[in-house]
Amino acid sequence: MHPPLVELHLHIEGTLEPELIFDLAARNKVTLPYADLADLKSRYAFTDLQSFLNLYYANMAVLLTEQDFTDLTRAYLRRASAAGVRHAEIFVDPQAHTVRGVPLAACINGVAAALRTSESDFGLSSALIVTFLRDRPAAEAFDMLTELVAMNAPIVGIGLDSAEVGHPPVDFIEVFDLAHAHGLKCVAHAGEEGPPEYVWQAVQLLEVSRVDHGIRSLEDPLLVDYLVQHNIPLTVCPLSNVRLRVVDTLADHPLPAMLERGLTVTINSDDPAYFGGYIDDNFTAITDAFALSADQLATLATNAIHAAFITDARRAELLAEVAAWCAATD
Ligand code: ADE
Ligand code: ZN
Repeated sequence: MHPPLVELHLHIEGTLEPELIFDLAARNKVTLPYADLADLKSRYAFTDLQSFLNLYYANMAVLLTEQDFTDLTRAYLRRASAAGVRHAEIFVDPQAHTVRGVPLAACINGVAAALRTSESDFGLSSALIVTFLRDRPAAEAFDMLTELVAMNAPIVGIGLDSAEVGHPPVDFIEVFDLAHAHGLKCVAHAGEEGPPEYVWQAVQLLEVSRVDHGIRSLEDPLLVDYLVQHNIPLTVCPLSNVRLRVVDTLADHPLPAMLERGLTVTINSDDPAYFGGYIDDNFTAITDAFALSADQLATLATNAIHAAFITDARRAELLAEVAAWCAATD
């Protein structure tokens, strides 16, 4: 069994299960380019990040109304609660919806409505992080962040995602400066497919508190030293890395080397509907692949609690839950 879980790297659109795609298409009278469910499911063999993103963005065509975003988020919360998730920080990609004509408010308010009752309905705390698409203009992200601030959107921070190579963090300095000025937390995908240089830029130019993925950091020993010294957490997503061919097999994943080097690693699911498993499945997979001990699992869980954007009181509660799990597991 795994310890109480904290999820810090989860794209809500990446929880859009094939069945829900068909349900929402029927509700919204959207014609899908798939013959049936089996046809859709046959398209989940990815060759790289872009091949996944193509399907991920295409399937968003079924998300049109505020209710769609609420239903999607509630489905995730239900699944997460069953998996033992105690706190979740959720990414949403508003530009992927506004470019299709979906109002920003429908997307944000729809997800936020579900998160508002995550405690009472599903027994877990939650927070929302808006992620900007790095393969779209930085000026568009800047304008959207300005709009989010003006509408007092219930977000804890911002992030950066989508096609990495060729879209370095340095292009988004103004966006992240604006976020910092408004007291928002900052994270960024870096070192997933992109080089260690992008991780350097994320931490030094964007001043992020966490790096999403970051597994290619291992190629640069000085960068590893920097991340360790500054205690910058990495939100690692093992099943995602396998399915997007960042590593050949789970056995080749650098997770053990990352732990060995003293990096603050956390385990997350990224886009569970696309990558064959939720956060509990990621924990099970790495436990089996690397014969992790209860102590190592507790370290991963504790790392995530320290890396989470939560109050000291909530942090103390979650740490106590992990301590209770350790006592029961001994
Ligand atoms: N958007 C959704 N999942 C992503 C990933 N793994 N990398 C970059 N952008 C993403
Ligand atoms: Zn991601």
